[in-house]
Amino acid sequence: MSESKNKNILLARDLHKSLGRGAAKVHVLRSLDLTVRRGEFLAIMGPSGCGKSTLLHVLGLMTGPDEGRIVLDSREVPDDEPSRTLLRRRHIGFVFQRFNLLGVLNAADNIRISLRVRGLEMDGRAEQVLDQLHLADLARRKPAQMSMGQQQRLAVARALAHNPELILADEPTGNLDSDNAKRLLELLRQVNRQETQTIVMVTHSATAAETADRIVRMADGKIVDTNV
Ligand SMILES: Nc1ncnc2c1ncn2[C@@H]1O[C@H](COP(=O)(O)OP(=O)(O)OP(=O)(O)O)[C@@H](O)[C@H]1O
Ligand SMILES: [Mg+2]
Repeated sequence: MSESKNKNILLARDLHKSLGRGAAKVHVLRSLDLTVRRGEFLAIMGPSGCGKSTLLHVLGLMTGPDEGRIVLDSREVPDDEPSRTLLRRRHIGFVFQRFNLLGVLNAADNIRISLRVRGLEMDGRAEQVLDQLHLADLARRKPAQMSMGQQQRLAVARALAHNPELILADEPTGNLDSDNAKRLLELLRQVNRQETQTIVMVTHSATAAETADRIVRMADGKIVDTNV
C-alpha cells in the first residue's frame, strides 16, 4: 500500500452515499475525496444540508459508503458491519451533533458504559475525563439536569475517554455561547497538541474553524478545495 502510516491517518476516496428511499432518496455524498493528516486539527465547513454530518458518520465508520474506499491507519476499512464496529470502537471518538447521551445514566456512567462496550475497565478514567472537562462536580447528574454547554462537554468527555487516535466532532460548539465555545475549542486544541490526537471538526462558525490547522470546504456532497 502506498499510503504512509506516519503521514495520513484517514483517506476517503470517491465516496458516494445516498440517504432515504424511493422518491425521498437523496444522493448526499458525491464522489468525495478527503485526506486527514495524522495529528492535524481539521475543520470542515459548508452550508446546511451539504452532507457534513453524513460525511462524518461515514468517516466515523457508523455506516458504510455506497461506493468508494476508506483507509484508516493504512488499513482498508472492510465492508462488513462487525469489522467496522471493531475499528470504530478502537480508533474513533465521536461527538454527535445532538450529543446522543443516555438519559437514564448519570454523567460518569455515560462515560463508563462507553468504556465498557470497548472492553475497557479503566479505574478512575471516567472521573479523570470529567475533571479534564471541568465536570467533576456533575458526575452524578443526568443529562437532563445539565445545561447545554455541560452536556456538550460531557459528549466530548465521552469521546475522549478511550483515548482514540481520531476524534470526529459534529458542530461541537453549535449549542454553546461564545465563552463556552471558546473554552471547548481551547480544550480540543489542547487535546490535539498534548495527546497528539487527530481532530476532524464540522463547524458553521468561522471563529471556531480558525482554531484548526486547516479548513476544507464542502458543497453539494464533496470537498471543493483542491489539494485535499
Ligand atoms: N434519513 C434521511 N433520508 C433522506 N435524506 C436525508 C436523511 N438524512 C439527511 N438527509 C438529507 O441529506 C442531506 C445531507 O444531510 P446532513 O445532515 O449530512 O447535512 P449537514 O451538512 O450536516 O447539515 P447541517 O449543517 O444542517 O447539520 C440533506 O439534504 C438532508 O436533507
Ligand atoms: Mg449536520
